[in-house]
Amino acid sequence: MMNESGKWWQKSVVYQVYPKSFNDSNNDGVGDLNGITEKLSYIKELGADIIWLNPIYDSPHVDNGYDISNYRSIDASLGTMMDFDQLLKRSHDLGLKVILDLVVNHTSDQHPWFKESKKSKNSSYHDYYIWKNPVEGHEPNNWGSSFGGSSWEYVKSVGQYYLHLFAKQQPDLNWENPKVRQEVFDVMRFWLDKGIDGFRMDVISLISKKPDFPDGTIVQKKKFGDYYYGAANGPRVHDYLKEMNKEVLSHYDVVTVGETPHTNVEEAVKYVDRRRQELDMVFHFDHMHLDYGEYGKFSKNRFKLLDLKDVLSRWQTEMAKHHGWNSLYWSNHDQARAVSRFGNDGKYRVSSAKMLGTLLHMMQGTPYIYEGEEIGMTNVHDAKISDYNDLETLDIYNRFQNDYHLTEEETMKAIHMKSRDNARTPMQWDESKNAGFSKADKTWLKVNSNFRSINVARAKDNPDSVFYYYQKLIQIRHDYPIITTGQYRLIDANNPNVFSYERIGNDNTLLVICSFAEKKIQYKVPDDLKKLDHKVLISNGDQYEWDTSGDVVLQPYAAVVYLIQGKEML
Ligand code: GLC
Repeated sequence: MMNESGKWWQKSVVYQVYPKSFNDSNNDGVGDLNGITEKLSYIKELGADIIWLNPIYDSPHVDNGYDISNYRSIDASLGTMMDFDQLLKRSHDLGLKVILDLVVNHTSDQHPWFKESKKSKNSSYHDYYIWKNPVEGHEPNNWGSSFGGSSWEYVKSVGQYYLHLFAKQQPDLNWENPKVRQEVFDVMRFWLDKGIDGFRMDVISLISKKPDFPDGTIVQKKKFGDYYYGAANGPRVHDYLKEMNKEVLSHYDVVTVGETPHTNVEEAVKYVDRRRQELDMVFHFDHMHLDYGEYGKFSKNRFKLLDLKDVLSRWQTEMAKHHGWNSLYWSNHDQARAVSRFGNDGKYRVSSAKMLGTLLHMMQGTPYIYEGEEIGMTNVHDAKISDYNDLETLDIYNRFQNDYHLTEEETMKAIHMKSRDNARTPMQWDESKNAGFSKADKTWLKVNSNFRSINVARAKDNPDSVFYYYQKLIQIRHDYPIITTGQYRLIDANNPNVFSYERIGNDNTLLVICSFAEKKIQYKVPDDLKKLDHKVLISNGDQYEWDTSGDVVLQPYAAVVYLIQGKEML
């Protein structure tokens, strides 16, 4: 068990802001930094401690800011450096920390380093990127890019291919080159010296590629091979992160969370075991993969509760065992909306949103709330393909139509379920034009048509709203150290309807019961708990009292947390 005092970020809750879609202060249809500053008091009122901003740097926005052309300046569409300084200061004045996205697996092809790099093999920047000679007149291997096509792009004037694991406008940096690492460390110092409180590190598990660039297997009816075997958790990734920690991070009191695709818990502990001094947390994808199927992410499957229990419990237990710390999330700017994917965004929207919040926020780790989750924002169910902006979505549309010959209806169904743009539609503040996000005639991405019934103003008018429930969850985390420190134990593992677990502390226990059933069900409290004194800390329905035999009746999507006195940690 960790020391009760812990690190500040272990007791914290993070609120993720997607700057383009949060609040538009100059009414040009795109959210901006001043818009965020205007809404800091909202985030404070919710109770979050840390704000994570998706990339705000200069960028051609091929991938919405994940293609950076200048790491030290603010994208003009979002504001100026003065605006950022003000945002940071106001946040700190309110006691909110700010972390930024560090996107250093790749840059934009418009970054001056890349422009120099592609001038010739003799350029002093050539080696900043990963260039390979053609093999028998073809690409050096079969890797496909995450957003469609090969991950190699040929540049005729150079006579070589460069690697891009993402769009071709996102060339991969060559971390083997010590100069590249120093450049990255300098960029980090630049922001840390301004006083930011940490970084979320984009696809950090991909920065070290296997030197022999082995072909990948071809799965999910794709034309190209997966690059993961050759690029995820590569041979030098931990050397690089140790170096980063020693040279930069260890000099500041900051928090880091690495996005680590294709990293299971055994691999993950290597990043976050405190004794290894690399990162503080990682975002894993194991629970995101539970509804993948023949078309990967865009399959029609729904997750199975037993699998979810298995995955989340494994991460809880293994992280605790290996001196690591979990990041806890249901959604972010790359995923569908939580309530649509894991709950029910129709009849049970409010209760299932609260239930999901309870399940996650009572676990050990640092919870991340994605903007709008706290009011139960949903996927978009009525958009046409012309309403979408995201390049992953447009690629899957083409593939479904042209390669797999699925119907328009099947294609759009998959997109409505999983497109990243589900999460990127503007924040719904009130029922005025554009949901109060912007006064522009047209917003960069259409507002979800349900904004009149789901918005912040309405939520704040209703004491039973998802907003106030999330506020209470955060408050409870702040008030009860057992949520940070208690030992996790899954109970009733084979119950197909209920996810229940204990958090066991020194002199009390939390019992968390979350139903995924859409009907009333009975649940039996474990024998060793049922005779002990208990009180309900939070629940999303009527008070749940159990009878003498320990039976509780759970409403559809019920969530209830009991604080139980007496049972001690073994
Ligand atoms: C990460 C980001 C995603 C982006 C990709 C490439 O997965 O979260 O939005 O498209 O990396 O940078």
